[in-house]
Amino acid sequence: MDGNGRWAEQHGEARIVGHMNGVQGVREALTGCTEAGVRWLTLYAFSTENWNRPQAEVEALMDLLVRTVVNEIDELHQNSVRLRAIGDLDSLPANCRATLDEAIARTAGNTRITLTLALSYSARWEIIRMAKRLAGEARAGRLAPDAIDEKVVSDALATSGMPDPELLIRTSGEQRVSNFLLWQIAYAELWFTPVLWPDFRKEHLFQAILDYQGRERRFGKTSQQVATR
Ligand code: IPE
Ligand code: MG
Repeated sequence: MDGNGRWAEQHGEARIVGHMNGVQGVREALTGCTEAGVRWLTLYAFSTENWNRPQAEVEALMDLLVRTVVNEIDELHQNSVRLRAIGDLDSLPANCRATLDEAIARTAGNTRITLTLALSYSARWEIIRMAKRLAGEARAGRLAPDAIDEKVVSDALATSGMPDPELLIRTSGEQRVSNFLLWQIAYAELWFTPVLWPDFRKEHLFQAILDYQGRERRFGKTSQQVATR
């Protein structure tokens, strides 16, 4: 979700107004996914690197997160959305963490779609944590180094149990991955749009999905192999 600050600038508003309007992009992405039958939506809401923004913006973002979860949780629950979070959640302010934990617990049994918020998340943070975990297991004699395979690594990441993303969308015209799910997107299709996140609508999501559906995913095989599968 990128472009909130530029959206604010274009509208002559403070950056936080861009973030507030970004909530509409979240609603649209979520309802669009639900309508399209997408079962997993993961939103990169706050990166490890975002802590380096001005303190006032960081605080405003955390407040916005709390307010949004409080305001939306009833509707999310009614729509059978399962809320989750990945990232260094211990680094979040206590009230933010408590609000999230409560919402996550309340929606844990929902099955229509899993909405995962990446908060204080970065792929390198997660990969380092995975390496520490596996090294610890190995040192304790519970894991043979030779037994480390893709599944062992995947299971030690924050996204354990989640399928790898099929489609990665980045808004605002930037064509970078910015430390998001680096292991998991090995074979994801990428979609970049100039639309700023507060302007993101279901139609943009559907456009991305249609484009995705027209692509041939070969996973290293030849076109012929894929066609005759
Ligand atoms: C994305 O919008 C929202 C967050 C990272 C929290 P930005 O705040 O990065 O918007 P730009 O890049 O300044 O336009
Ligand atoms: Mg940005």
